[in-house]
Formats: sequence, structure tokens, C-alpha cells
Amino acid sequence: MNDEKMREAARLLKRSRHAVALTGAGISVESGIPAFRGAQGLWDRYDPSEYAHISSFMRNPGKVWGMLRELYRIMEQAQPNPAHHALARLEELGILKSLVTQNVDGLHQRAGSKRVIEFHGNGGTLICLSCGMEYPARDIRMDDLPPACPRCGGVLKPQVVFFGEPIPPRALEEAFEEADQCDVMLVVGTSAQVYPAADLPRRVAWSGGRIIEINLEETHLTQDMTHIFLQGSASEILPRLVELVEKS
Ligand code: APR
Repeated sequence: MNDEKMREAARLLKRSRHAVALTGAGISVESGIPAFRGAQGLWDRYDPSEYAHISSFMRNPGKVWGMLRELYRIMEQAQPNPAHHALARLEELGILKSLVTQNVDGLHQRAGSKRVIEFHGNGGTLICLSCGMEYPARDIRMDDLPPACPRCGGVLKPQVVFFGEPIPPRALEEAFEEADQCDVMLVVGTSAQVYPAADLPRRVAWSGGRIIEINLEETHLTQDMTHIFLQGSASEILPRLVELVEKS
């Protein structure tokens, strides 16, 4: 399965001038972190209009923290999987120039990726909405919800982008600069339904770059702009792909 397509993808990467990866929740599923959409997705259990929008958080932070605490308990245990390691290796080989992730779990950095642009923030930091103090999430007890700022008692919020919040300006700028330079984009484990992240592959395709997509199932990108679709689990496909790049 996929053999010829895998070789073609490896050739494209090997010949690329500026390859960039865009990753989504699917890449961390095999680290035990649920994705948002699709089978067993988080939004099946939690209605995003009640849990994902910043106005829901502001209205009822304790309720939203119920979901967040569950995610933090999972993230605490999660380890990078072979897909994260493969992308780190591809950067080490000098092929992947940067990685834009929509994930907030920090697993790419833990796998060794250096140039990571966190498009939706990072769950490792909590910020006080009253005094602005920042804390490592691991230092904050999450017994009473919402967790309170140790200094002023204000509500703590993860440094992640909720719907209705802007993308951190620097990440936005850097990600679009990367897309403008990119001639091959590896799009891994994202449904590409959330904008502006989903504009990144579009931008690459429109300027003549090639999209290699790795996903369990087709997305709206697949028919419209994907050059090579590798169907399957990222943790199986990416290590094989990187091995082919190394051998070729
Ligand atoms: N390997 C490859 N792909 C996978 C795997 C896997 N093991 N498991 C799931 N997938 C795919 C699914 O088929 C789906 O297309 O990963 C994708 C996950 O999609 P989403 O759950 O929509 O995640 P993502 O695209 O990252 O969501 C974007 O939505 O709610 C927000 O802010 C949140 O950053 C998130 C954004």
C-alpha cells in the first residue's frame, strides 16, 4: 500500500528547497491525546460552542476548566510518538525548515524539533486574566476549578487560542512567511477546517508548491490541492517516509 506514492513523496522532499510541515491533533492521537473532530473526537463529547469559544470561557471558566483539567491529566502522561520523532529527524537532515503546529501539547519540541511555530499557543503556560502573571501549568494545582492565581486569586487561563481569539501575531506572521517560501508542505493529521491555519496549505498550493498530506481519511484539501495523499496513521507513515528520504 502507498509504496510508489511514498517513494514519490520521499523524492519530492529530498529535492525540496524549503519544506515546511503543518501538523494537527491527529499527529498526537497515538500519544494518547484525543483529536477534536472525527471518531472519538473531543467535540463529540463537549459541544465546542460551550467549551471552545473565549466567550464561553469568560462566562463560565469553571465549566470549561472541567474539560481542560481532563486534557491536562492526559497531556501530563503523553510522550512524543514515532511521527513526532520522524519530523524532528527530517529537520535534523536539513530538509524540513520549519514546523507549524496547531497543537498545544509541546510534543514536537520534546521530540527534538527546533523550529516550531505554535499557531494556537502552548498549553504549558497559564496566564492570570487579572494580573497577567504567567505560571508553568505543572506548578498549578487543579483541584478547585477554575484554578486561581497564587498571587491575586484571579482566574487562570491556558495560553492557548480559543475560538474568537486572535492568533498570536508573531506566530501568524512567521507561519505565513514560511508558507510563502515553502515549495513542499507536509500536512499531517489535520482536518484543515480551522482558519487561518487552513489557509497555509492553500497559500502554498496557489503559489505552485506541492502538498503531501498524511491522514487517516481524506479532507477537503485532498481533492482540491493535495499532490500526494498518504492514507494511514502518521506514526506509521512518517518514519517510513523519512527512512526512504535517508536511503535515497
Ligand atoms: N494519523 C494521521 N491522521 C490522524 C490520526 C493518525 N493517527 N488520527 C486522526 N487523524 C486525523 C483525522 O482524520 C482528522 O482529519 O487528524 C485530523 C484531526 O482533525 P481535528 O480533530 O479537526 O484537529 P485539527 O485539524 O488539529 O483541529 C484544528 O481545531 O478546535 C480546534 O484549536 C483546535 O487546533 C485545533 C483546531
